[in-house]
Amino acid sequence: MKIVSIVGARPQFIKCAPVSRELREEHEEILVHTGQHYDHGMSEVFFEDLAIPKPDYNLGIGSGTHGHQTGAMLGAIEDVLRAEEPDMVLVYGDTNSTLAGALAAAKLHIPVAHVEAGLRSFDFRMPEEVNRVLTDHASDLLFCPTETAVRNLAAEGIMEGVHLVGDVMLDAMNHNRAVAEERSHILEDVGVEPGEYLAVTVHRPSNTDDRDNMAAIIGALGEAGMPVVFPVHPRTRNYLGKYGLLAAMPENIRIIEPLGYLDMLHLMAHATKILTDSGGVQKEAYMLGVPCITLRENTEWVEMVEAGWNVLVGAERERIVRSIREFAPSLKQRCIFGDGDASEEIARYLSSYGAAYYG
Ligand code: UD1
Ligand code: UDP
Repeated sequence: MKIVSIVGARPQFIKCAPVSRELREEHEEILVHTGQHYDHGMSEVFFEDLAIPKPDYNLGIGSGTHGHQTGAMLGAIEDVLRAEEPDMVLVYGDTNSTLAGALAAAKLHIPVAHVEAGLRSFDFRMPEEVNRVLTDHASDLLFCPTETAVRNLAAEGIMEGVHLVGDVMLDAMNHNRAVAEERSHILEDVGVEPGEYLAVTVHRPSNTDDRDNMAAIIGALGEAGMPVVFPVHPRTRNYLGKYGLLAAMPENIRIIEPLGYLDMLHLMAHATKILTDSGGVQKEAYMLGVPCITLRENTEWVEMVEAGWNVLVGAERERIVRSIREFAPSLKQRCIFGDGDASEEIARYLSSYGAAYYG
């Protein structure tokens, strides 16, 4: 089959790395980068770290409001699909690049496969929730990372083409964990000792776009009583600057540029705890056995909360401070994300779909 894969934002580069490797064993893959993320540290570094093939197309869409960004992607992706005439379009996760890819393909009657299907936070104020629901309803093959995701789809009447395959981020981690350990010097670079710091990421609009929430988070981190390493997403850096919080950063917080995948893995693996509002980082914390404090009121990754390894604290200063001091998982870890062979399974299902559909 000829498969067009569409990526555009940081987590999608990571998810596509193991899948692309497997796909190319049997299929022709055309990789399309929408250009949603474009800084070297938000894009190119992942292609280098994860040895992802150079995109065949970079659409250079860049930043914009939701409508403008998604609309520009939709037109540009349609042009690529009309020129390439693929048998299948593969999209990842829940960003505007995901929705634009799925929609462009569906309108051209090209089958859509969605990696990380079925996730729901049930919070429609999150742009990602809109993207998830619409993408799933436009998809022919839905690759779910968890049983909860399969149940969420069934509740919306989507049963056909649904496959529980596990999480491709586990595949990416398994492939790179030892490499990160060997190559990364990030702890020395920022001057922290293993097990004696917190690793933090924040980029959800519900936090960044709200001055009080950002002030509460930074205030709580300032009370951590240990170093805090905070690789800052460009969106977050913009808002921290605007709110005057960058200039008044507590002295224990090390604000650094966004990290490449290997440095990030290494930083997370040796942290005492991880604080985040990222979907991917919540999962990776669990995979690495590091307790996670989630700076949101809800999560689509409910299993880790149920397993006692993730606690939802929102952006409330007192709750954050208390969980930094007190939160400790009480239960043993159980297998949530599969066996680390999700990419292989995806490639296999794509092949059998191709054989049935195209002969
Ligand atoms: C996007 C996704 C989000 C995902 C996140 C991963 C949507 C709606 N959101 O959020 O689901 O969790 O990516 O990181 O698709 N910027 C730069 N350089 C870059 C990229 C962004 O400076 O390379 C700045 C721009 O000011 C831009 C802002 O960050 O306006 C937000 O970027 P955007 O891609 O719109 O959304 P994210 O917050 O990154
Ligand atoms: N990540 C990274 N460098 C950073 C922050 C995050 O490599 O400075 C990785 C992280 O390890 C995970 C992915 O990016 O694999 C998560 O992406 P992000 O948090 O941007 O988006 P989300 O998962 O919330 O959609």
